[in-house]
Amino acid sequence: MRIIRTKDYNDMSRKAANIIAAQIVLKPDTVLGLATGSTPIGTYENLVQGYEKGDLDFSQVKSVNLDEYRGLPRENDQSYYYFMHDHLFKYVNIDLANTHLPDGMQEDSQKACAEYEAVIEAVGRQDLQLLGLGHNGHIGFNEPCEEFKKTTHCVNLTQSTIEANKRFFASADEVPKQAYTMGIGTIMKAKKILVVVSGQDKAKIVKEAFFGPVTPQVPASILQMHPDVTVVADEAALSLVK
Ligand code: GLP
Repeated sequence: MRIIRTKDYNDMSRKAANIIAAQIVLKPDTVLGLATGSTPIGTYENLVQGYEKGDLDFSQVKSVNLDEYRGLPRENDQSYYYFMHDHLFKYVNIDLANTHLPDGMQEDSQKACAEYEAVIEAVGRQDLQLLGLGHNGHIGFNEPCEEFKKTTHCVNLTQSTIEANKRFFASADEVPKQAYTMGIGTIMKAKKILVVVSGQDKAKIVKEAFFGPVTPQVPASILQMHPDVTVVADEAALSLVK
């Protein structure tokens, strides 16, 4: 595991975007695994700037997103479909037919998960998987549990995740209670993984996830077993790590 310590959030965002940009330059038909949450927003802004400068071409890029809230329509500005369009897809020349997220409006959860597994299979292994880190160590929406779930599944969000994400909704009651998420097995199949983390409030979980025991109670800890992980984290997020 490679850890890149950055000065602050902006520095983290630039460095993470540079890594993704290099991947696209080296392999224009790259399969990107994409993440949502507040942390990667700056990374996406830098990628959009790279595209606007003419340095980046997304025309052959394919993407698979980690997760989607169950029951939120695409038009809802808190859906991850909306997020991806609002922060990246609508500003670059990616072919929308090559972008994929779980279908949050598919009520039949078994069908939703099976369909997304088929999509992941068809798109192929991610060349680079971008990840944020939840306060409880979740990646995608793989919440702490008894075992690492391998494939796409429907998850009951923990109270701590609902609390953490309520800032984006009118109230905690409005936060969906379930989500569809890519499994840990699929995340681990990515050729390279890039984790972005920022802020003092993540310092404790950074230490646990990347320097503590590997356990499904801290889902991100499994990344210690992956052969090519880069963590780009700012000083505040790394403040408990020597
Ligand atoms: C969300 C997403 C994750 C994200 C995490 C952290 O719930 N499902 O993919 O990494 O929480 O979010 P943030 O970056 O806003 O702290």
